[in-house]
Amino acid sequence: MLMLKEHFSVNSLGHLVVGRLDAVELAERFGTPLYVVDEQRIRERYRRFYRAFSSQWSEARVHYALKANSNMAVVKVLQSEGAGADVSSETELRIALKVGIPGEKIVFNGNYKTQRELELAILNDILINVDSFQELEAIDKIALRLGKRARIGFRINPDIRADTHPYIAVGLRESKFGFDVISGQALAAYKRAKEMSSVEILGIHANVGSQILDAAPFVEEAEKLMKIVSEIKERFGIDLKFVDLGGGIGIPYKPEDRELPPEEVAEKVVGVVRRVVQEKGLEKPTLLLEPGRFIVADACVLLARVGYTKERPGMPDWVAVDAGMNALMRPALYGAYHHIELANKMNQRNEHLVNVAGPLCESGDFLGKDRKLPKVEPGDLAVVFDVGAYGLAMACQHTAQPRPAMVLVNGDKAEVVRKRETYEDLTRLDQIPSWLL
Ligand code: LLP
Repeated sequence: MLMLKEHFSVNSLGHLVVGRLDAVELAERFGTPLYVVDEQRIRERYRRFYRAFSSQWSEARVHYALKANSNMAVVKVLQSEGAGADVSSETELRIALKVGIPGEKIVFNGNYKTQRELELAILNDILINVDSFQELEAIDKIALRLGKRARIGFRINPDIRADTHPYIAVGLRESKFGFDVISGQALAAYKRAKEMSSVEILGIHANVGSQILDAAPFVEEAEKLMKIVSEIKERFGIDLKFVDLGGGIGIPYKPEDRELPPEEVAEKVVGVVRRVVQEKGLEKPTLLLEPGRFIVADACVLLARVGYTKERPGMPDWVAVDAGMNALMRPALYGAYHHIELANKMNQRNEHLVNVAGPLCESGDFLGKDRKLPKVEPGDLAVVFDVGAYGLAMACQHTAQPRPAMVLVNGDKAEVVRKRETYEDLTRLDQIPSWLL
């Protein structure tokens, strides 16, 4: 069955169209495997997300989570929309600064931030969501040495069960993230920070997980965070300026998935915040949101060339394409579903049962199993949908495969925004030791 999202179309040749460009021509011009990103779609998604929250709560800020796709051009597009950033490594932090996102619009998350990363964050006035007592001590020391006051919030472990893959259900009590609430550690962290000279206590943060298609976990999260916000006000007299709800709104990957509208999440979550602010007489906090997947996932496809097909009587045919788990790891790692079509045969009926595999030497090296496609022939162009988030960002070089190129499309324009890796790139960092020369 054909399931095309509204920003794609099919031309008179039966070819998939991205922006205003024929995907078959893009593959010929730039080679395969190729990630193709639609700039306008990213803009639309950002604007929709931002409007959903800002129309409910005047002080709402969207910090795009770079981990979903940290390509500099993609981040630049979001910077030009006015987005802030959520970063989780030195490189992401530097990319955000480099494309012009000011430090005050960046938040830094993660359970292990190195000394060097903390220094960089403090020097650039980035809001650091502290994940442990030891990290808090380290931050205070570094800030003192630098003659700065570190801007901090605390990541709270929300202890929320969300219906998603266990690897991305990060809000559980047993997960490695955040301060435990039940045992009193969360409040103790604020108490400790209050005694410190070089930190400025500004916020609270949590993240319930990723690829969530139900509003309930976000409502529960807002309730839990706002409860702590009011306790902090009562006990320590501190009005927290930022309430950071993290990311996690999912997208429909399968034809039968239903979307979770950000408007619905915004309305429900803001309802909780508004109620608690009124009941407890709190200052109105600024709400921070850290969407990744929602903004970029469906703006991008992966084009892969069919090399060979083979029959397995009584079973699905095998179709070998030039992109495997190296180019897109999500199917192998999470059993994730990504919809697949033939970009050059969009008008033909999908009636042949196939498994689509990559070129690597592992059984986990597949992009999709038990899929229906038109009769597949060598030279056909497979298209894998919804790969803009955690696609190229998680690609690797297993079996020394070069990572794919990425092209940004804007209407009828297309330019490479990430070059294809080469043999030279892949071997550049290896060295043969002196005794073997
Ligand atoms: N904020 C924090 C602190 C996060 O840890 C994450 C994602 C986000 C925001 C963005 O979440 P999103 O809106 O994209 O759901 N590799 C997995 C997803 C891992 C998500 C990790 N954290 C995947 O391919 O599904």
